[in-house]
Amino acid sequence: MGSKRVLLPFILHNIEKLNFSRALDAFSGSACVAYALKNTGAEVHANDFLRFAFHTAKATVENNTTKLTDEDIALLLRRNPRAKTFIQDKFNALYFEPADNQFLDNLWANLERLRSPMKRSLALAAACRAAMKKRPRGIFTFTGKKGWDGREDLRLSMQDQFIRAATLFNHAVFSNKKRNKAIWGDVFEIDPKGYDLVYIDTPYISPFSDCDYTRRYHFVEGYCTYWKEAEILESTSTKKIRSYQTDFSSKNHAIEAFNRLFEHFRKAKLVVSYSSTGIPSKEQMVKILKQYKRSVTVQEIAHRYHHGNHRHKVGDNNNAVNEYLFIAV
Ligand SMILES: C[S@@+](CC[C@H](N)C(=O)[O-])C[C@H]1O[C@@H](n2cnc3c(N)ncnc32)[C@H](O)[C@@H]1O
Repeated sequence: MGSKRVLLPFILHNIEKLNFSRALDAFSGSACVAYALKNTGAEVHANDFLRFAFHTAKATVENNTTKLTDEDIALLLRRNPRAKTFIQDKFNALYFEPADNQFLDNLWANLERLRSPMKRSLALAAACRAAMKKRPRGIFTFTGKKGWDGREDLRLSMQDQFIRAATLFNHAVFSNKKRNKAIWGDVFEIDPKGYDLVYIDTPYISPFSDCDYTRRYHFVEGYCTYWKEAEILESTSTKKIRSYQTDFSSKNHAIEAFNRLFEHFRKAKLVVSYSSTGIPSKEQMVKILKQYKRSVTVQEIAHRYHHGNHRHKVGDNNNAVNEYLFIAV
C-alpha cells in the first residue's frame, strides 16, 4: 500500500535536479525510493517504524555485498525438530494452508541459526514478501479466501514463494560504494544532522483510506519477531497486533505533525510526496512548508491506484488522483 514504485520516474526526474550527496528516505515502506536514490550514487539512509520495512531496507539499501548462498537457503529450508507451532496454532485457517503455516514456523526456527544480521534481514524480507504474495491484495485485514482468483502467486507454496523472493532479493544486491543505512524507528527520533536531502512520504489521511499500515501488514510485522515484540489483540478475528501510533494518521494531529516534521528537517532540501485526496490540502501544505523553507514548488502527475486498499475502487473515478511532489529548498 502506498508504494511509489510506478511513480519512481516522476520522482527521480525531479529529485535529480537537486544537488545532494547524503539523503534520507524518512518513511521508507517498500524501500523502492531509497533503493532508487542509492542507485544515483548518493549515501542513503532509509527509516521506517515497521520492522518488516526495516528488514527490506536493510536487505536492499544498506546491503552492498551480502547474498544468501545456496547453503544458507538449504539451511533455512531444512526440517527443524525444535521449531515451534505458534503460527499453526494461532493463525490456523485464517490466512494460509496448514503446510504453509508449518513452513513459516520452521523457517523462523532456522532463521535464528543464521549468524549474519544482514543475512537474517534478507531472509526475513523474503519471508515477508512470500507471505504477502500469497494473500489476495497482499494484505491481512480479512481472513479466508476472499478475493482468491487462483492466480499463480496464490497457488504457489509458501516455500516456493520464499525461494523466489530470496532469489529476487539476492539479485537486487549491489554496491554504490557508500555506507548506506537502514533505521528502524519513529521519524522524530532521527538525528537530522548531515542530510542534504530528505524524502518524505508519510501516510496521509484521505476519504478512501485509514492509512493504518500496521493493520494491513500485522502478520508480517508480527513474524519479524515471531510475535515476541507484538501485542496480539485476541478479540479480533484477524488476530492483528496493536497498531503503532503515528500523528500523520490522525485528522486532529496531522497539521501539527507536518509542522514538527518540516521543522525537524528544516536544514535539508525537502521533497514531499503527497496526493490530491490527502488532508491537509495542497494549498495548506505549501503554506506549512513556506514557514520553514525559502522556495516551494509543486510538481504534479495524474495517478491511478490499483493496489492494496484502493483496488476495490478500480472502475469508479475515486481512485484517479493527482500525485504531488513538493520541492522545498
Ligand atoms: C506512504 S508509506 C511509504 C511508502 C514508500 N515511499 C514506498 O514507496 O513504498 C508510509 C510509511 O510511513 C511509515 N510510518 C508512519 N508513521 C511513521 C513514523 N512516525 N515514523 C516512521 N515511520 C512511519 C509507515 O510504516 C509506512 O511504511
